Amino acid sequence: MAPSLVENGTNNTAEVAYLKDRRQANYKEAFQQAADTTQYETEINGSETAPPAKYPHYLPYWDDVKYPPYEPFEAYDHGRDADPTFPNLIKEGVNVKDLTANIGAEVTGVQLSKLSRAGQDELALFVAQKKVVAFRNQDLADLPIQEALDFAEYYGPSHIHQTSGAPKGFPRVHLVHRSANDTTAKTYFEERTNSITWHSDVTFELQPPGTTFLYLLDGPTAGGDTLFGNMAVAYQRLSPEFRKRLHGLSAVHSGHEQVQASIARGSIARREPISTIHPIVRTHPVTGEKALFVNPQFTRRIVGYKKEESDFLLKFLYDHIALSADLQARVKWEAGTVVVWDNRVTCHSAILDWQDGQRRHLARLTPRGERPYETPFEG
Ligand SMILES: [Fe+2]
Repeated sequence: MAPSLVENGTNNTAEVAYLKDRRQANYKEAFQQAADTTQYETEINGSETAPPAKYPHYLPYWDDVKYPPYEPFEAYDHGRDADPTFPNLIKEGVNVKDLTANIGAEVTGVQLSKLSRAGQDELALFVAQKKVVAFRNQDLADLPIQEALDFAEYYGPSHIHQTSGAPKGFPRVHLVHRSANDTTAKTYFEERTNSITWHSDVTFELQPPGTTFLYLLDGPTAGGDTLFGNMAVAYQRLSPEFRKRLHGLSAVHSGHEQVQASIARGSIARREPISTIHPIVRTHPVTGEKALFVNPQFTRRIVGYKKEESDFLLKFLYDHIALSADLQARVKWEAGTVVVWDNRVTCHSAILDWQDGQRRHLARLTPRGERPYETPFEG
């Protein structure tokens, strides 16, 4: 168990705390996972207090296979080919309910895995517009994993996560998994006041994900919701003068801390960590919308600014995003839910709020998109 910082006792306690803070830097990891925190015995066979995992072939494993750096590739967003009236996606009998005025929808009556190519094109555009969509009663989790991957990879080649566990034989599937009877949620709140970690996924990559899929395999009866924020509205909320100032600025995004945190807990690094420079305001390739593209998990420094200047501006932007509950939605998970978001124009945060030892198990399919780019300020 991690020593509490309030103990203020031995030198050893101080050194452990110092090392821990140094490794983490700004990176805040509320969902630490590794082979030794995964209780395979309980997950596979169940225990007196927990049923076995519903999807044991999706349990996470960590191998020591190393992957080379990503090479640039030409991304194509299928939302470009979509009929904007969505005749192949929102057919008769489909129900679309907005989650909030600014972001998010819940959809019933669509089976994603059965969509035609035209329907898949429309899905990309629909998600780009709604930012995040919860599709209920889906069969994605019940398909063979390869079929689920084939479905998602229409949108781009999968990202292989640099540290997360993956189903055996499928490193292109990213898993979020907390074993039944796991106690790290309790331990976590001995050191942190909240579990909120606003970010867009793997923004340190040269070509971060676009249309992204996350589906529930097993979850607590209450809690473990996911928060989403609309980064296009976050951009629009700023004054024209302030937005004008942001244009032309770029920032360093780092994957180093995530790898360091993984190695520090004895886990893996599949790829040499990298840092990448992206514009602070990016443009969506299909809708043309501009969106803020910084996050406290991976963005480190505004290029050309001195450290204090960079910290000052980034803190303002992070606070702006975190405080704007009026551009956020909270997505609740149910069995069969697939949440699809556009990672280019949203941020999200997991919520670690259930401490009763229930299992939480999700899989992410993560097609990579274009290299972020900006277009000129338009007022
Ligand atoms: Fe994420």
